[in-house]
Amino acid sequence: MTFARIAGTGGYLPERIVTNKDLEDIVDTSDEWIQERSGIKRRHIAADGETTSDMALVAARRALDSASLVADDIDLIIVATTTPDKVFPSTACIVQRLLEVKNIPAFDVHAACSGFIYALDIANRFIKTGGAKNVLIIGSETYSRILDWTDRGTCVLFGDGSGAVVLSASNNAGVISTHIHSDGEFEELLHVPAGISSGYETFQQEGAFIKMKGSEVFRRAVGTLGSIARETLEGNNVSQEDISWLVPHQANLRIIAAAAKKLGLPMEQVIVTVDEHANTSSASIPLALDVAVRDGRIKSGDLLLFEAFGAGFTWGSALVRY
Ligand code: UT7
Repeated sequence: MTFARIAGTGGYLPERIVTNKDLEDIVDTSDEWIQERSGIKRRHIAADGETTSDMALVAARRALDSASLVADDIDLIIVATTTPDKVFPSTACIVQRLLEVKNIPAFDVHAACSGFIYALDIANRFIKTGGAKNVLIIGSETYSRILDWTDRGTCVLFGDGSGAVVLSASNNAGVISTHIHSDGEFEELLHVPAGISSGYETFQQEGAFIKMKGSEVFRRAVGTLGSIARETLEGNNVSQEDISWLVPHQANLRIIAAAAKKLGLPMEQVIVTVDEHANTSSASIPLALDVAVRDGRIKSGDLLLFEAFGAGFTWGSALVRY
């Protein structure tokens, strides 16, 4: 039987760092409020002209290097993003051109903050059914371009960045299970209310920016992450004591801590990057994974639980033997 395993990871964060103190000059906020309510201290913001695909390319190259593979070894590229370079072509096709690989499928997945889990689920299915041997999965976002920098309820919470993973065919189970869900009922709690086929005049004249009912999203995120963690552990007959590391989507330290508490995992076993990166949406899990692999916390053989919740609503999880 063929399984998929993580063969390499890579990450990229833009050079420019914006601290909470810097934001005090832009909106009516304080470093104290942001840290207390979200755990965020700073975020990276893309340079003028720096795109989602530019960042994805660097993360992808780093992931390929760590897998000891070259771009020609890849037979599928999936980019999870809600902030693509263009309406079309897909950011995955742009990354494919930049990597100079031809004739392989490349496509984007749009599932907001759960995008990386969705991409992992798809890549895992390709590998298990023999459709691909080495899949490049990238979560890449430039949320700074869809933030209303006058709205203190959202602009302090997000950052830019890119994380990548190479998933390769193996005889040993790396990806043990993936679980993805969505519920379109709650569209207006977290959305960008204008786009191409709806609200196009607003999109052209005023731009299109994130609107969020933060405390309602918070409440639903905590409840949903608790149930997806249960579904994942029970589905695999695994207890929380078997988990080496929780690698959660990084939206808010209080959401992460509540999810860890429900699982009965101490914070020492949780990878946290929200303090340094803020919420990078679909990039946050692969970035957190890459940080913890490179600093030596996550080691070969560790059992990892990924979990995410985001706009849609979408949510998902994965149990992975690293
Ligand atoms: O990744 C996708 C999913 N996204 C999330 O999971 C985000 C979920 N939500 C959250 O992380 C939290 O709800 C927030 C961090 C957005 C807000 O924390 P909260 O504890 O839910 O605060 P709140 O929205 O209830 O607001 C409390 C107060 C309000 O003032 P009043 O009405 O009590 O006077 C806000 O106007 O805090 C005020 N406030 C701020 N104050 C200073 C909101 N934003 C700010 C700010 N600085 N940046």
